Amino acid sequence: MHQTHKKILLGITGGIAAYKTAELVRLLIKSGIEVQVVMTQAACQFITPVTMQALSGKPVYMDMWDNSIPNGMPHIELSRAADAIIVAPASADFLAKLVHGRADDLLSTLCLARDCPLVVAPAMNKQMWEAAATQRNIKQLRQDNVTILGPDSGEQACGEVGLGRMLETEALAILVKGFLTPKLLADKKILVTAGATIEKIDPVRGITNFSSGKMGYAIAQVAADMGAKVTLVSGVSPLDQPYGVKIVATESAEAMYQAVMTNIQQQDIFISVAAVADYSVESPSNEKIKKGESSLTLKLKRNKDILADVASLPNPPFCVGFAAESQDLIKNASQKRLSKKLPLLVANLVSESMGTDEATITLLDDTGTHALPRSDKITLAQEILTHLSHMLEK
Ligand code: CTP
Repeated sequence: MHQTHKKILLGITGGIAAYKTAELVRLLIKSGIEVQVVMTQAACQFITPVTMQALSGKPVYMDMWDNSIPNGMPHIELSRAADAIIVAPASADFLAKLVHGRADDLLSTLCLARDCPLVVAPAMNKQMWEAAATQRNIKQLRQDNVTILGPDSGEQACGEVGLGRMLETEALAILVKGFLTPKLLADKKILVTAGATIEKIDPVRGITNFSSGKMGYAIAQVAADMGAKVTLVSGVSPLDQPYGVKIVATESAEAMYQAVMTNIQQQDIFISVAAVADYSVESPSNEKIKKGESSLTLKLKRNKDILADVASLPNPPFCVGFAAESQDLIKNASQKRLSKKLPLLVANLVSESMGTDEATITLLDDTGTHALPRSDKITLAQEILTHLSHMLEK
């Protein structure tokens, strides 16, 4: 069941768009993809291997005769490890080389020696793109099962306007990630809650918790990559918005409740990852509370349970709960799953999961418990959603 990270080999050829590839590397790594950069000599005229090495955290290869590769065959060694080769930017010259199966440098040799999919993001001046030779090459590459992303139209580095520039980095990152992820949740509508809630005491103070939102945001991102239409109702979280996800920002448990209920109709799946406050301040002060007495008592009232209410709707979506426990994990989590009538519950120990990049979790469903090895949250999100998609198939 354990999935490892996707690994891509990112080829950079000579084009001014190479500067955008630096950002692409950062975005891909951020979404849990391992990136090995290979550059042509021409690419090094536009961006330095040092930049790419710093961003990818791995040595950058340029040379066929690099003797730092253990078996002395970099073209075999590097392409064997890759789930896909992405060439961005792909120059007109490089596309022509691909068409002819040329192998006169490391990147073209890797492309020829690969047994994984090849994706190219062309980038060139509009005349070069429109040239009959380039169009012939693109047609041939499509026939050879090469995926072509872009190009985009707009202002070019040379000052002309037209088709030929590389797709914007964020769009490319989404397309590459989508390309790598099996569409296990194609067209499913999923609502995810994530992050911490904050209950106002007065205009400048509130009661919150230590949830970072990392698990919920990872679930939202991976679900979108798996083809789902995702709405993320987020409480407080410092994280960047996941790509391709509709976000609804909330703060209090009550605001989160309203946002969920407004959006719950027509959802196929509800995944409740948020750390929702069980209590809120009964009468928050409209004015800042001044210090006075030696002690201050706040009266709290119970909040509604969003997940339990969604699971009790007449036609509930498939509901997934999270249980963060500090002791008796499986016992408490099983009780929670049954009392909230959930087909699937993800249990974790607070000490091992909250606020961290990694977590240790156990899945609980009607068939029993499934402990997953400790992993980063993107990998866990992939495993949880893969498990869920198998449950939906039954
Ligand atoms: N949850 C919710 N609304 C609440 C409280 C919790 O939707 N008001 C959801 C959480 O998102 C999570 C699950 O319910 O999926 C957690 O269950 P819960 O029993 O509320 O956990 P705790 O709040 O930790 O409960 P307890 O304090 O009793 O352990």
